[in-house]
Amino acid sequence: MIEAKSLCKSYGGFKAVDDLSFTVEAGQVLGFLGPNGAGKSTTMKMLTGFLAPTSGTALVNDIDVVEQSVAARRNIGYLPEGAPSYGEMTVLQFLTFIAHARAIAKSEVPESVENAIRKLNLTGVKHQPIETLSKGFKRRVGLAQAIIHDPQILILDEPTDGLDPNQKREVRGLIRAMAKDKIIIISTHILEEVEAVCNRVMIIAEGRLLADDSPQGLIKRSRYHNAVSLVVEAPEKVASSLSELPQVAKAELREGELTLFPTADEGLFEAVTAAIGENHWQVSALRLEAGRLDEVFHSITRKEASA
Ligand SMILES: Nc1ncnc2c1ncn2[C@@H]1O[C@H](COP(=O)(O)OP(=O)(O)OP(=O)(O)O)[C@@H](O)[C@H]1O
Ligand SMILES: [Mg+2]
Repeated sequence: MIEAKSLCKSYGGFKAVDDLSFTVEAGQVLGFLGPNGAGKSTTMKMLTGFLAPTSGTALVNDIDVVEQSVAARRNIGYLPEGAPSYGEMTVLQFLTFIAHARAIAKSEVPESVENAIRKLNLTGVKHQPIETLSKGFKRRVGLAQAIIHDPQILILDEPTDGLDPNQKREVRGLIRAMAKDKIIIISTHILEEVEAVCNRVMIIAEGRLLADDSPQGLIKRSRYHNAVSLVVEAPEKVASSLSELPQVAKAELREGELTLFPTADEGLFEAVTAAIGENHWQVSALRLEAGRLDEVFHSITRKEASA
């Protein structure tokens, strides 16, 4: 378990992280979402013991990460921002070095290294110096070193940043596969990634926690939740006709797409499809909206900015 208790980090007079408290349990894949400069990386550094908090504490399985940082870090795999150092080492040398540093038993080092290389598809570059790798491959080496000792807790700062679409998929699959009995915290700017891998989301802005919910719970906060969107010929005419329905609170036309927002009355989708049939409108796309995470993110973090 991870416990953050009133974590604060100030740089001079500036509060980068402002009184964050939360607990994370096994089986949770927690996503940190927030604008640039929100304090996500700073929080991760404090959870991993790489940065001492100005005040507050972080506990990993009841171990204080500042007071007993070596013991706490044993349980943690950490992917920091940016690329791994030790650029002159080859991938194989670097991962072997990390495996020893992680106190993996000598006899198990080659297998642990090969496992990590295989999981991150690094076989083709394992004899190449890290500094000569492309950005995405460097990122994959960073991920490989984070998982090499099969830690119970993984803290991954933008794990798919810079990866190509295939690798993004692979890494998301890897995270999902590891999630069952671990604690995983990731930060990301990719909202689909949150929906794809996380079962919990914390939205952070200006160092403060603004929302702590499941992805589904957040999506339900969207004004688009249960709205119906369609692409239709003569949308203005259709909009004014559909606005008469008791299930329609509001019709909005944006970039050629007509969106109908629901009233408290049930059955908006059915009412719209019935009206389409009766009026023989030419519809080329029609969907019931689950909600839009980008809009929720925007409205939650914008409120903060203007407060
Ligand atoms: N060593 C430092 N000295 C001064 N200010 C710092 C330092 N490190 C971070 N900050 C500031 O703290 C704030 C939070 O930074 P942090 O890197 O945690 O944000 P983030 O949420 O990870 O952003 P991003 O999405 O861009 O990665 C920023 O305003 C940053 O400029
Ligand atoms: Mg960051």
